[in-house]
Amino acid sequence: MAKLSDETRAKLRRRSRLVNLGRDTEHSQGFVNVPPFRGSTVLYPDVATLKSRAQRYTYGTHGTPTTDALSSAWSDLAGGAGTVLLPSGLAAIVVALMASLSVGDHLLITDSAYSPTRAFADKMLKRMGIETTYYDPCVGGGIKALMRPNTKAVLTESPGSLTLEIQDVPAIAEVAHAHGACVIMDNTWATPLFFSAHAHGVDLAVEAGTKYLSGHADLLLGLVSANETWFERLHRTVDLMAIPPGPEDVFLALRGLRSMDLRLREAERQGLALARWLGERPEVLRVIHPALPDHPGYGLWKRDFTGSSGLFSIVLKPVSEAAVAAFLDSLELFGLGYSWGGYESLAVPFDCATYRTATRFAPGGPTVRFSVGLEDIEDLKADLDRGFERLRAAADQQASSFETPALRAPQDEG
Ligand SMILES: Cc1ncc(COP(=O)(O)O)c(C=O)c1O
Repeated sequence: MAKLSDETRAKLRRRSRLVNLGRDTEHSQGFVNVPPFRGSTVLYPDVATLKSRAQRYTYGTHGTPTTDALSSAWSDLAGGAGTVLLPSGLAAIVVALMASLSVGDHLLITDSAYSPTRAFADKMLKRMGIETTYYDPCVGGGIKALMRPNTKAVLTESPGSLTLEIQDVPAIAEVAHAHGACVIMDNTWATPLFFSAHAHGVDLAVEAGTKYLSGHADLLLGLVSANETWFERLHRTVDLMAIPPGPEDVFLALRGLRSMDLRLREAERQGLALARWLGERPEVLRVIHPALPDHPGYGLWKRDFTGSSGLFSIVLKPVSEAAVAAFLDSLELFGLGYSWGGYESLAVPFDCATYRTATRFAPGGPTVRFSVGLEDIEDLKADLDRGFERLRAAADQQASSFETPALRAPQDEG
């Protein structure tokens, strides 16, 4: 088999790139996959090379053929100048912030951000003398009013992974760049397959590889790709911190990469089918899915994204917490769990009213987020049907227990 030429590689369509990127048979003795290189020590052939460090691999924390395979593949996919790998998605967010901020700087974070991102800003960055302001995810170019002379980074997450607001990233990037600030985006929902972050003005694009890149809920991984302007600084930051992911996790992520397009397209198809079905349910007040025309961000999604993943939320008509719990507890195919993007379907209740500070999220009923997996859609509907039955029964029971004291009261008094 001839080696893939640069000319052929440059012409490959996305699915072919996913199959071929990062597969360096030179490092794998002809085997199809690059193996998980484990190691701390790297040997040098002589003192001169040791002193100059003039060889690609120098120490376990500074990269291996396995990490190179994934980071080069990801850079190609993301359209970035380079990618660094971290042991979790949150670590990737942290590194992007550490690469772009210094003592005395000001940071803008979307109010819809993943809540551990907020916790890092509120607890750690604050201690380091970095002030954070949260902004309305739908602010667009209006972010200009929030920029200060010391604003050095604007963090976006589009859509927000619970409430799914779509942000006008190009408008935000234009303002941020005019002020000399770095634009960071958590692009985990769309992945580079459905949103080209760097082409839309993002400097540092974060992916929790734990989700769709893994696709199997069996690893934790973070990736940050950077454009030309930011890669050097990002790389230097990570090198100083020395926090590489485990080799097996990177190996598994490379395996996930090969089928990511197929899995994501199926998640999109199943997610949309289930979202539409849920929209017809009498128990559901509203479906929050950016690829449905009634979503407030649908226009932006259509303009900027090339697909949607299998993660979306619903608002139930007002019922008690106990009824929501009865619904979720009775589900047999949908697991109850926080991480998402795996082959198995999940549901979690959420309430972000307690921690949002720039905007009020008042959906009008209890909210549940779904991550739709690869099960047969009819089985998923049947599972939810069963759940809704329990929800109605719990709601009816509660309604009758509310009525009981009122009905009993005259007798009691009598
Ligand atoms: C949007 C988003 N970003 C980042 C992360 C963090 O990923 P990890 O679990 O790998 O730290 C998550 C995890 O749920 C997430 O939902």
